[in-house]
Amino acid sequence: MGHQPAGCRKHLLFHAAAGGQPARSPTMTGAGHAVYPPAAAPSLHDLLRAGTTPEHRDLECALNLLRAGFRLEDYRRLLVHYHGFYLPFERFLQDSAGRQSTVARFYCGGRRKLSWLEQDLRALGVAVAPYAAYMAEQRFPALFPSEEHILGAIYVIEGSMLGGAVLSKHFRKHLQIEAETGLRFFSGYGPESREKWLETLQFLESRDPGGPLRIHALDGARRMFVLLRQHLVDAPA
Ligand code: HEM
Repeated sequence: MGHQPAGCRKHLLFHAAAGGQPARSPTMTGAGHAVYPPAAAPSLHDLLRAGTTPEHRDLECALNLLRAGFRLEDYRRLLVHYHGFYLPFERFLQDSAGRQSTVARFYCGGRRKLSWLEQDLRALGVAVAPYAAYMAEQRFPALFPSEEHILGAIYVIEGSMLGGAVLSKHFRKHLQIEAETGLRFFSGYGPESREKWLETLQFLESRDPGGPLRIHALDGARRMFVLLRQHLVDAPA
């Protein structure tokens, strides 16, 4: 087992993702040389998942949300930070959708999460504005300049709902909250989670640019992880 930051004993995604490619068996030529069949190209999802596993692990560890000392006041602060991220991010997507971005339209058509955060903050008695630590909105267009970059960002946001399912169970038990009393955001899509994730994966593959442009999707996904880390972990309390 490699090095793990203090306080982070398990990486849930890391374990969920463990497995690896099955070995490819060679055929032998008459001259006795082993010939291996060509490896199938990874799907865009495989590429994004494998390419961001270290970022996911770092963020999961740095957030350390399953720690014993995580109290309701920490949860309130976390929601405020999420809100400070989602407000400008979803505005950016809304603007992009208005400028014919098919990828942003996919997200804006039934996947926005800002109102869930607002509902939770209201339920927990937190006033959200004015708040100094909002992610500067003008940073988004430069960081996500193409459809592929936005695709990578949306992969990260929709994927984070999978971790949310683990977290919502944990918070329900340890913080004694329900969807109506502050757990709406982490409840995510609820019983529709699987269907929504499958739709996201189908959408990813349908928008896969193939070839060298795929690197833009990976850059977009990695940038999203970096931004979330800056905003959720490194932001002032
Ligand atoms: C803002 C924070 C987070 C982001 C952006 C994020 C992002 C993601 C992404 C993109 C995936 C999809 C991976 C795939 O392609 O299959 C994922 C899955 C997952 N995440 Fe996170 N995650 C976050 C926080 C967490 C935390 C704190 C936990 C731990 C409680 C967690 C646990 C998981 C698990 C268990 C899965 C895999 C679920 C499955 O395969 O069924 N995540 N996350």
